[in-house]
Amino acid sequence: FGRNVHYYESLGSTQKEAHQLAYDGAPEGTLVVAEEQTSGRGRLGREWHSLSGKGIWMSLIVRPDLPPQQAPQFTLITAVAVARAIEEITGITPEIKWPNDVLINGKKVVGILTELQAESDKISSLIIGIGMNANHGPEDFPPNVAHTATSLFIEKGEKISRAALIQSFLKYFERYYSIYITEGFKPVRILWESYAISIGKRIKATTVTGVITGRAIGITDEGILKIEDDEGIIHNIYSADIQQT
Ligand code: BTN
Repeated sequence: FGRNVHYYESLGSTQKEAHQLAYDGAPEGTLVVAEEQTSGRGRLGREWHSLSGKGIWMSLIVRPDLPPQQAPQFTLITAVAVARAIEEITGITPEIKWPNDVLINGKKVVGILTELQAESDKISSLIIGIGMNANHGPEDFPPNVAHTATSLFIEKGEKISRAALIQSFLKYFERYYSIYITEGFKPVRILWESYAISIGKRIKATTVTGVITGRAIGITDEGILKIEDDEGIIHNIYSADIQQT
């Protein structure tokens, strides 16, 4: 991981570029990094604000020999690796909000977008997009996210080395990925739960089919969130927006 790095001053989206490279046969571990994205994408078709020179905008190609159902676990592996890297570089312990947000003091510092290219019943590649607000000042966020976003610089009070953070992330990603392949998801799930904020709390999950309110019980070994509603019914949540209530 990180031996094959494609670096760009400016790109539409590292995610789009990585999809193309993966399609053209780029090996596992290929990383696409851009100083600036002119049309960065978030989850659920949202726009991702990717200011030049301040953040870490990157997409990683992973080619696990696994069925597509296991793709969501990679979002959680990535979140743990990001959290560990932030801890190592800044000394701050972030929190993880299922499935893909890394927060400090309740504000979003990293977003993760995992996308899949599959052939019949096998993953051919996963494109893991990571957007980290590294050296943004408070004035660098657009008004619509100013209250919910933060950066490592704002939280730490010091500029951070983006190169050191990327290196640390790759080291931990490689470590947890290999633990996952050899020992299964459980050790990663336990680490993930040690950073998670919503577990045990009352949450509201907005899914494509509706809203579920209840207590987040935990995640399964597949990386699925379990919520117990007020009637005691357990819901399996594959994808949703989570709010603490
Ligand atoms: C989210 O929280 O909605 C996920 C945000 C993912 C943003 C990253 S930045 C690098 C990569 N390229 C993109 O266009 N998006 C991802």
